[in-house]
Amino acid sequence: MLISYAPVNRDPLRILFATPECGPWIKTGGLADVSAGLPAALRAVGLDVRVLLPAYRPVLAAVPGARELAAFAASAGLPAARLLAATLPSGVTALLVDCPVLYDREGGPYQDGAGADWADNWRRFGLFSSVAAQLALHPGPIGWPPDVLHCNDWQAALAPAFLRFAGAPHAASVAAIHNLAFQGLFAPETVAALGLPRACYAMDGLEFHGRMSFLKAGLYYADAIATVSPTYAREIQREPLGFGMQDLLAARRDSLRGILNGIDTSEWDPATDAAIPARYDLRRIERKTASKAALQQRLGLAAEPGTMLFGVVGRMTEQKGIDLIAAIGAQLVALPAQLAVLGAGEWRHEQSIASLGRAHPGRIAALIGFDEALAHLVEAGADAFLMPSRFEPCGLNQMYSQRYGTPPVVRATGGLADSVVDLTDATLENGTATGFLFREPTAQALFAAAQRAHVAWLDRPLWRRLQQHGMARDFSWDASAREYAALYAHLARTH
Ligand code: ADP
Ligand code: GLC
Repeated sequence: MLISYAPVNRDPLRILFATPECGPWIKTGGLADVSAGLPAALRAVGLDVRVLLPAYRPVLAAVPGARELAAFAASAGLPAARLLAATLPSGVTALLVDCPVLYDREGGPYQDGAGADWADNWRRFGLFSSVAAQLALHPGPIGWPPDVLHCNDWQAALAPAFLRFAGAPHAASVAAIHNLAFQGLFAPETVAALGLPRACYAMDGLEFHGRMSFLKAGLYYADAIATVSPTYAREIQREPLGFGMQDLLAARRDSLRGILNGIDTSEWDPATDAAIPARYDLRRIERKTASKAALQQRLGLAAEPGTMLFGVVGRMTEQKGIDLIAAIGAQLVALPAQLAVLGAGEWRHEQSIASLGRAHPGRIAALIGFDEALAHLVEAGADAFLMPSRFEPCGLNQMYSQRYGTPPVVRATGGLADSVVDLTDATLENGTATGFLFREPTAQALFAAAQRAHVAWLDRPLWRRLQQHGMARDFSWDASAREYAALYAHLARTH
């Protein structure tokens, strides 16, 4: 039972939210959406939140007038840095770790333009974690000592280790896992190069199979661990989704919470979306057909309103089951149905989807790239959305698609299992059905679910009810923000 947080006779709780990406300034995936949405929602429930982010080149370009708040001297293998202050479009204050030699470069936040990890990532995110920890000390360098430091993913997860060895009062810490597959693994010498005591390089510490792991530091030293759905919180305590961390996570299960993400319901709203040709809502779902026609035209698919269109948006990786989609392409076409895929990622997956498109012109369209406006059009224009993830800590697209009247076909894992209700006679009757779930991570199981969706789509009144159930659901950040606020309040009381 969660106790709700109400600020009584004291200043609001101060939360420092350290994240390696944040929309709209820098995005590779869902963490950017979370970093934009959750802090704003926490602010709306009365907390004093600041977002800490590296000052990458696109971030500096977005906030030309950022002012300097503090400076940090070089130490151990870490260069000097400045702290800049800016404001996110949501009104939330952003603190930027400015160190041009580490962050002001062409390419992505984690990888160069060719898709290779930056060789100095240990230093880039070692510095980021170190600054997060210094800001979390009490009284701290900027006159704003946070009550809780919320560290997102491995890039910020070394901060709880720095805090443990700081020898000064400090904030409570939360290590938030958005994807356990990314563990921040580096050579053992990195520990000393970052100025951490050698003693923490141990099994009871941040050692992981002969290397040091930023993520394990967070999981081991943070006061609490959060992840982004209740089902994923259970899955990561076992093989295979624990990715080697399952025993540590199971041992810390009393400190581990799964809190389902929300979505930005103003950015993802078919009633106001500027990226689609005709806006629609629960009472005017039929206007969705304009988006379908626009999507077919844009992607070179045959202009057939009467053929079911499946949509896919996502990173092209093993995690997302892109190979399963490639494997059923010909079967989908034979249903008959069309398929529109938007995504970028690993070369082999991009290639297999692109060649599928070439093999089925007018039936399957592959757009390799990152295009936010087109992602909106796919959500609105597809009849159903495919998301056959092998694992999915939370997933946002299945929530977007429900809101857009585009029932998702998803694998029953992580946040997909927690946010989609399978269509059965019972769930249709009680008004909860919103999509289609399948269990096995196989092409056969995916196709069986897609086929179920196709049969349901042919029954127009039934399909309309399914769309309405999904569109009526509340996926806003409010409920998640209240759960995080309760967790922070608990930590602040007991730390
Ligand atoms: P993950 O973070 O694992 O990639 P999520 O479902 O949490 O998965 O979030 C993915 C986010 O990135 C969504 O906002 C989605 O729309 C967006 N996205 C992914 N790939 C693309 C793309 N190729 N073009 C535009 N947006 C994309
Ligand atoms: C990760 C996960 C995704 C989740 C996102 C935001 O990228 O892969 O499932 O939705 O983080 O928490």
